[in-house]
Amino acid sequence: MLIQKPPAISAREITVEELYRERRRFLRGGAAVALAATLPAATSAARAATFHQGVNDFGDLPDGGFGTDEELTPFDKVTTYNNFYEFSTDKAGPAELSGDFEPRPWTVAVEGEAENARRWDVDELIRRFPPQERVYRLRCVEAWSMVIPWVGFPLADLIKESKPTSRAKFVEFRTLHDPERMPGQRPGLFGNVLDWPYVEGLRMDEAAHPLTILGVGLYGRFLPNQNGAPLRLVVPWKYGFKSIKSIVTIRLSEKQPRNTWNIQAPREYGFYSNVNPEVAHPRWSQARERRIGEWKKRPTLPFNGYAEQVAHLYAGMDLHKHF
Ligand code: MTE
Repeated sequence: MLIQKPPAISAREITVEELYRERRRFLRGGAAVALAATLPAATSAARAATFHQGVNDFGDLPDGGFGTDEELTPFDKVTTYNNFYEFSTDKAGPAELSGDFEPRPWTVAVEGEAENARRWDVDELIRRFPPQERVYRLRCVEAWSMVIPWVGFPLADLIKESKPTSRAKFVEFRTLHDPERMPGQRPGLFGNVLDWPYVEGLRMDEAAHPLTILGVGLYGRFLPNQNGAPLRLVVPWKYGFKSIKSIVTIRLSEKQPRNTWNIQAPREYGFYSNVNPEVAHPRWSQARERRIGEWKKRPTLPFNGYAEQVAHLYAGMDLHKHF
């Protein structure tokens, strides 16, 4: 039998996204089985439970749909231009200062209005809910955007497994609060910049929407620390600050949770934070955005281009008021 091999490429000469694209092209060519036999990396989500940072941590990922054919933002931009105030308030800072952060072992507690409230080891979660690939746009409130091949699983699956009670109307998320491990949380110059821990929230129908995922990787790899290892939210129709990183608690609640940027500046950041070119931030317009890596600005789309999937969630709501 002829065993097909992936094209000969030297890892030393090529970038992560070239390697990623090469691999995807090869898999789409129908050679997945042969490739699985030739690559040493994990070939199933189950094997991804062994934590290591590699080229192909998650193996052959199913396509989770909702994708876009837009140009991917290069891996080095996705991982060096970050907002992660637990490490730095500077865009380059999280990549520079999070290198020693250990995202394993890690547990996530599902608590509150859930019959199956429990604590999960993050790798147990990955085994229970096999990740998929989702190529989503991320639009930051600061008017820049990226296109990222995320690896994750629908939050809806975890919510369902947790058996919400009839009182569960919202979902609250909390980031790790550990100033020893997250230097940006230490009292001092930047330590008081936000009220820690970082918290976020979604209405239950938003949380259970098929577009909403818990992200565990990008570009086929485990999440780099600066992107929110080991587990973060990805809600592509909302401004980036809703996509909370390094989550330790998911709480189902009856009352609308507070969210960090709304606590910080309620006139500037709302609870909903749906991407909306018609509602300007008090200090800048949201009508256009700069795709990282491009010069010319492009128009921002309502709900970040996902209106067809999510606009109905807000029927009858005044989105100027509920910004
Ligand atoms: N989560 C935590 N815990 N702390 C943060 O500072 N920044 C948010 C969001 N999640 C932030 C966070 C903002 S403002 C954005 S734009 C996105 O993360 C950026 O995600 P990225 O670095 O993966 O692009």
